[in-house]
Amino acid sequence: MTHLFSPYEMMDLKLKNRVVMPPMCQYSVSNKDGIATDWHYTHYVSRAIGGAGLIIIEMTDVEPDGRISDYDLGIWSDDHIAPLARIVEACHTYGAKVGIQIAHAGRKAEHAAVPVAPSAIPFDNGSKTPRALSTAEVKDMVEKFRQGVARAIKAGFDVIELHGAHGYLIHQFHSPLTNQRTDEYGHDLTLFGTEVIRAAKSEMPAGMPLIMRISAKEYVEGGYGIQESIAFSQAYKEAGVDMFHISTGGESPVGVGPLGTKDKPGAHAAYQVPLARAIKHNLGVPVIAVGRLDEPALADAIIGNEEADLVAVGRGMLRNPYWTLEAADQLQKETDVPVQYRASYPSKK
Ligand SMILES: Cc1cc2nc3c(=O)[nH]c(=O)nc-3n(C[C@H](O)[C@H](O)[C@H](O)COP(=O)(O)O)c2cc1C
Repeated sequence: MTHLFSPYEMMDLKLKNRVVMPPMCQYSVSNKDGIATDWHYTHYVSRAIGGAGLIIIEMTDVEPDGRISDYDLGIWSDDHIAPLARIVEACHTYGAKVGIQIAHAGRKAEHAAVPVAPSAIPFDNGSKTPRALSTAEVKDMVEKFRQGVARAIKAGFDVIELHGAHGYLIHQFHSPLTNQRTDEYGHDLTLFGTEVIRAAKSEMPAGMPLIMRISAKEYVEGGYGIQESIAFSQAYKEAGVDMFHISTGGESPVGVGPLGTKDKPGAHAAYQVPLARAIKHNLGVPVIAVGRLDEPALADAIIGNEEADLVAVGRGMLRNPYWTLEAADQLQKETDVPVQYRASYPSKK
């Protein structure tokens, strides 16, 4: 039986277990320069020591105005490569594989003087009105994603994740609520995403999987649902996505805004798993499930029941960097415990 601690292999990516640390912004860049600091090093390397099979570094942006805040990580300059490479190398020492989430915040870039977006529609009444990108600027943006991915490859990452979720730029392009363009990028809502995917793939070694995070459901009134997300994910799969990471929402502030909301994100355990399962089984692709999965028996059941291929634990790992080691202990599964910590796991002495 496949379980949470079964190794996982996809193309050239080999993971020691099925536990993923999902991307989580730390807003901890010191000089507004996008450069990873000692905080990032300690934060990610601790989770590698803590046993995670795959660590996906937080939203890392392809241009300064693509950041949610000036304290986000960046990948628009070669100066970003070495500090990221230092993190990747150290995580590898502890047996973790490392990915990075390449992103642009679009209209959700809070510190940009004038954010850019597919159309000039603000996130909410309190947000800046973004400027609609010209067609030429959209093509330049694809190029910025390509260059960001090229730098990530130089930094030694094992896998690339594109941020197509949570109301950020790629999501803004494929959502009819935020993309009201009349050019080719409005006629085909997946054109921007598919061009970014192809650009990313052109820089990636052939055996390296490309992950895309999507919001499989919008919560705003009139937002898309699982049928639409199956359709756009199919286009993204054909363009080169090898695995999807299934989240939801982020397109609109919940409960406010001109359109109101049609329903709210679930607060119960595993609330996004049915969507991960739907994408996995309809598209025949591997998926990462995420969202309140920090109970080890539950995470294990999702793998055992073939609802997802990998399970991500976010806030659970913010609370406890050693979540994975503890989960193995609770589930009585074999995993490498660093020799320095074995005294705390009687079965490993
Ligand atoms: C502090 C924090 C920062 C986050 N930053 C990101 C991010 O950079 N990119 C992203 O796709 N999701 C981000 N998320 C969402 C998480 O990756 C994850 O999907 C979410 O927390 C649900 O999983 P959980 O219930 O295991 O925490 C963030 C979540 C938290 C709590």
